[in-house]
Amino acid sequence: MIAGKHRPIGIFDSGIGGLSICHAVKSIIPEEDVLYFADVEFSPYGTKSTKMIVARSEYIVNHLVEQGCKLIVVACNTATVNSIAMLRSKYSVPIVGVEPGIKPAALNSKKGVIGVLATEQTIKSDSFKRLKSIYDNSVQIETKACPEFVSLVENLEHKSALALDIAEQYIRPLLLAGCDQLILGCTHFSFLMDAIQAVVQKEAKIIDTAVPVVMEIKKQLFNRRINNAVGLKGETNFWTSGNSENTARTISNLWGQEVKVIQTKP
Ligand code: DGL
Repeated sequence: MIAGKHRPIGIFDSGIGGLSICHAVKSIIPEEDVLYFADVEFSPYGTKSTKMIVARSEYIVNHLVEQGCKLIVVACNTATVNSIAMLRSKYSVPIVGVEPGIKPAALNSKKGVIGVLATEQTIKSDSFKRLKSIYDNSVQIETKACPEFVSLVENLEHKSALALDIAEQYIRPLLLAGCDQLILGCTHFSFLMDAIQAVVQKEAKIIDTAVPVVMEIKKQLFNRRINNAVGLKGETNFWTSGNSENTARTISNLWGQEVKVIQTKP
């Protein structure tokens, strides 16, 4: 357990995609300390079995709780839809998840057609199917699994010409189907915003859930009176199940400053 007055928020993802949520935390509630766990050794989750995703989520939450985290953020749509119910039933610490933003997309759509970019495991999960079924009668929902988006980000190729090509392949069919709202249903995809925007142009609005998720975190911290005082400068520390040097290189690039990463036993 971390010593000291301020307990951190624990944030995890299969890899580095959850840093998009961390960036929003740092800009909206900079007074909070963060402990980020990148499960690089087991990344990607999108093509793994439900059993494996649930087991990893449990292992990581256990680790974050042992470190004294006051609130956990499952900064991964794939882990949220597959394991958040189990996590909430097992742990008393508040747990905030990330789900594809179907509700705002359905409400905003003028054409009545919306697109969801996500991982294969998110799209085939029961929880996503349930969420989709609430809006299926009011809008047409097109889904697209985008496995290569995750590896582009993990390999820091998210700004490459290849990223643009792959974005075109994944997104064009959704635009041709009439989607005027495009949901980023995976936290890695925020880092591909330039490539996605270049394909979408003005044809659709891109929906990213990072800001609403952080507003929910802020609300929960405040309601439970476990928020840090405004004006403090929170620290961010990083852990990984993968190689610490490689992960530090990747995180430093996306975080915008040199960081150290602690390796845990997978
Ligand atoms: N960033 C994750 C998500 O939001 C998982 C990507 C993956 O590991 O496949 O779904």
